[in-house]
Amino acid sequence: MSIESQNVTDYPNSNTIFMVWKLNDDPKLKDVFQQLCALVLNLNNSVFNRFPDSRASCVMGIGYKAWKKLQLPTPMPKELATFEEIKGIKHTAVSTPGDLHFHLRADNKSIIFDMAIEISKLLNPVAESILEIHGFKYWDARSILGFVDGTENPHGEDRDHFAKIGDEDQDYKGGSYLFVQKYLHNMDAWKGLSTEEQEKVIGRSKENDIEMSDDVKPSNSHIALANIEGENGEELKIVRDNMPFGNPSTNEFGTYFIAYSSTFATTKKMLTNMFIGDPVGNYDRILDFSTAVTGTLFFVPTRNMLDDFSG
Ligand code: HEM
Repeated sequence: MSIESQNVTDYPNSNTIFMVWKLNDDPKLKDVFQQLCALVLNLNNSVFNRFPDSRASCVMGIGYKAWKKLQLPTPMPKELATFEEIKGIKHTAVSTPGDLHFHLRADNKSIIFDMAIEISKLLNPVAESILEIHGFKYWDARSILGFVDGTENPHGEDRDHFAKIGDEDQDYKGGSYLFVQKYLHNMDAWKGLSTEEQEKVIGRSKENDIEMSDDVKPSNSHIALANIEGENGEELKIVRDNMPFGNPSTNEFGTYFIAYSSTFATTKKMLTNMFIGDPVGNYDRILDFSTAVTGTLFFVPTRNMLDDFSG
């Protein structure tokens, strides 16, 4: 049978709900998890059938502790572990708990709203919701900082190559490592910068989204530090689908950073460059305006695995 991944390479959509759950020690947990795996497959098949143009999907990720608690197969996916915080001189990529992660996308919010209701109905008796964020496409895919986000994402075959596990981990081929961080922006400080200063923080122009040339781009700009290469000079990428969120009345604004990768090592290297700096101390200036308040690693099993787990 062919390997079918979950929808990790789907393109960003207009509406997103992110949910993180913590599993309780409950005798019904394993039964509920079986039902949940069947539900996730069912939800995806159903929206594909009913709303083929909406590009709706639900992707479920499983954390290290949950994998053990649920006694899922061993050996585990090679890089599945609890994320270890990355502490730089000024900013820290914190590590926070999370057993299950849901990434729901659709053009129409009603679709994912109802999906979230079904998932929550099943999980509530055996788990606690620890995060729920409703993200949305802000103008032409801009973060709340006003810059277009997602431009240098891989396309075509590269998308599969960088997002999905290949032959290096045969047991988990087609799976993916999912890393998420909730960032809060200090919009007052950000707005205190001129557009030219903001552009130096990101490394691209604000209005037209054009990359600065290497002789102008500051070495501590976001894209100078996030753009990384492998040992042989090959470009290393991840598949990002960041979403803005916010509550204007409480002045809380942020970005939910989400990335799928075939190896967590790539995401980790980007985080290290951003938080520790390259060279050490030359950290990413975006962090002076954006604080990571969560940070969690999950593994996204294939649809075939979800089918096995559903009993
Ligand atoms: C690029 C925003 C966090 C990895 C970008 C761009 C923006 C942006 C506006 C330029 C357009 C693009 O190519 O997408 C943000 C915001 C973040 C954030 C608002 C959170 C506050 C992160 C994190 C990582 C990351 C945590 C990695 C762990 C990248 C990569 C690129 C990029 C790989 C493309 C670099 C290139 O090849 O030019 N980001 N980002 N970003 N970001 Fe972020």
